[in-house]
Amino acid sequence: MSAPNSAFVKACRGRVADTTPVWFMRQAGRYLAEYRAIRKDHSLIEICKSPRLAAEITITAAETLGVDAAIIFADLLLPLEVMGLPFRFAPGEGPVIEKPLRQAADVAALRADSAGELGYVAEALRLVAAHFGEKLPVIGFCGAPFTLASYMIEGGGSRHYLETKKMMYQAPQVWDQLMSKLAGVLSAYAAEQVRAGADAIQIFDSWVGCLSVEDYQVQVLPRTRSLVQAIRRTGVPVIYFGTETSMLLPLMKSTGAEVIGVDWRIPLDQAWAAMDDKGAIQGNLDPALLFAPWETLRARAEDVLERAGGRPGHIFNLGHGILPHTPVENVKALVKFVHEASANSQPATIDWFGEN
Ligand code: CP3
Repeated sequence: MSAPNSAFVKACRGRVADTTPVWFMRQAGRYLAEYRAIRKDHSLIEICKSPRLAAEITITAAETLGVDAAIIFADLLLPLEVMGLPFRFAPGEGPVIEKPLRQAADVAALRADSAGELGYVAEALRLVAAHFGEKLPVIGFCGAPFTLASYMIEGGGSRHYLETKKMMYQAPQVWDQLMSKLAGVLSAYAAEQVRAGADAIQIFDSWVGCLSVEDYQVQVLPRTRSLVQAIRRTGVPVIYFGTETSMLLPLMKSTGAEVIGVDWRIPLDQAWAAMDDKGAIQGNLDPALLFAPWETLRARAEDVLERAGGRPGHIFNLGHGILPHTPVENVKALVKFVHEASANSQPATIDWFGEN
């Protein structure tokens, strides 16, 4: 950990902070001119594999926006390659996995001992942590077993996740072997990021909302809980994020993650109440609101803060990643607004023991 006393880490732990910390998923990306300039000469994968470039992009985005945490620049799918499933980004198509998993033998052949080959991500994180020191926390991240399995099986993005669900229903043992291998690789990968200085790890389970409560509980929760617990043993808080998860929130919370990230489809106070108002919560403005006139954007951001009610343990974020073409000025103005509005609305709790 590099910045254990930051507002962001305090909020992850449910402790009182001076202002509500704010950062954005995908805060380094195509909407930023500095990113596009680097991207002109390098592919996304080249950037991820060059610690110097990845660190520069991470740092520039955090400093430009004035946010309370930097998230390491990498991609969710990097572990696929070291497990034996190469992929590429096709223009306009998104990620394409060359030979998706279809049979038991494909899962049996996956390598589960190869997280060390992702050392370039930890190296980039080390550079970012050295740059910021105690001034700004750095978030490491990985995909969740379900969301990564869905890319491995579907071969890319999907609408119905039918091949994924077919494996779950038709070959539950093969499915569980896949989830188990993923949880092992991801635990080692996340632990390496913590050793490099990460202050928290976010687990992206972006597409888990396609599941019924029963399938989540039986087929996904056990290995996800193992992953969360393994990361917690490294000593940093875990943020567990998914979209369309209104019905899954109590089970997601039961993984033991300190922070649950929610999308905009559920009002923030209702999401927190679904978890008995326990732990910390991250979210949850619709990223499309960054295209709205300032008065609309401000009012909706204020609504999120009001629903959090100044309670300790709220981390302001969007409900999903920043979209391409987002006006940078609106992102900066939102950061400023969250800081100013939350400085006035913290409850009069006295944090005698540094804990709440
Ligand atoms: O948040 C950050 O600033 C850190 C960087 C980051 C990237 N990807 C870089 C990236 C993070 C956290 C991710 C996570 C990621 N990657 C997720 C989970 C988050 C989510 O949105 O749910 C997923 C599903 C992926 C897989 C992926 N990578 C997709 C679907 C795409 C979009 C493909 C496209 O062409 O639009 C990517 C590409 C990607 N990853 C970009 C960036 C900045 C844009 C690529 C570019 O420069 O062309």
